Amino acid sequence: MSIESIKIPPHARMRRMRSTPTLRSLVRENSVCASDLIYPMFVCDGLNRREEISSMPGIARLSLDQYEIEILKLAQKGLKSVLLFGIPAHKDALGSAAFDENGCVQRAIRMTKEIAPEIVVVSDVCVCEFTDHGHCGVVENAKVLNDASLSLLSNMALSHAEAGADIIAPSAMMDGQVAAIRHALDSSGYESLPIMAYSAKFSSSFYGPFREAAQSTPQFGDRKTYQMDAANGREAMEEIKLDIEQGADIVMVKPGLAYLDIVKKASELFSKPIAVYNVSGEYSMVKAAAAAGFIDEKSVAMECLLAFKRAGASLIISYFTPQALEWIEETD
Ligand code: PBG
Repeated sequence: MSIESIKIPPHARMRRMRSTPTLRSLVRENSVCASDLIYPMFVCDGLNRREEISSMPGIARLSLDQYEIEILKLAQKGLKSVLLFGIPAHKDALGSAAFDENGCVQRAIRMTKEIAPEIVVVSDVCVCEFTDHGHCGVVENAKVLNDASLSLLSNMALSHAEAGADIIAPSAMMDGQVAAIRHALDSSGYESLPIMAYSAKFSSSFYGPFREAAQSTPQFGDRKTYQMDAANGREAMEEIKLDIEQGADIVMVKPGLAYLDIVKKASELFSKPIAVYNVSGEYSMVKAAAAAGFIDEKSVAMECLLAFKRAGASLIISYFTPQALEWIEETD
């Protein structure tokens, strides 16, 4: 049968609504805007330090004076929210710098609330950047102890609350951490401070570049005894359920791109807002491929951010945030 002999035209013409940019925009189901985005930043002790992370072009560890310049610039660009990580000058077995009221994160929180109070400050609560062994809790006989780590994490959360954080984000993957932190916050008068729980956090090689940035590579073993097995989707729902029961206000799936099925499932099963972390390795891959001329950075990055929204996330933590703020503006 030749092409000419087919007489019946298709009755479903999906292309009708694709013929112009305006028609396409009228039927567009999802979009990315500035208020969806949270920018992860690394602050460190010292003065006048701006240490570029070689595996994450455009990202640097910043001392507070440099952080101040950066945050003012980003506020001008319309940044809505920042997620803070600290890299202290001195690390020890218990990560004491993590709950020092004059630690770099605590100072960065106070500074942000002073110079750009409209920016929502989310603070990461985990001790791996502060411990000399690089694990996310108390270590004894080469084991990461669960219950002994809870008071450490609660103290850290409390010190962030006292510094003025707007959202507390526990990421250590210790069982019961959300309940412990909720209790500590409530007992100190911070019952209105929200918790964004890293609920379904997988043990992932996509965190590689972050560990260069945060100097937090575990000195022995790995994180597989506390972070989730990449093979498990149903277990992720159990983690999320438990965190919601313990008082999480926002639940997170991390990493993002290779885990969109988890984001989708979680958004269908739970009614709490879902956050997704577009992690360091995902950022580095796009950067490296774009630098090699293999892909177009802007359109690939924006396509990824859109995919998170389509999968059901309401918040996206991404290193692309500063660029995305400009890109959103351009395509508006
Ligand atoms: C700390 C933490 C990690 C990330 C966020 N918080 C690293 C890890 O678990 O080793 C990774 C973020 C990224 O890769 O961008 N627990």
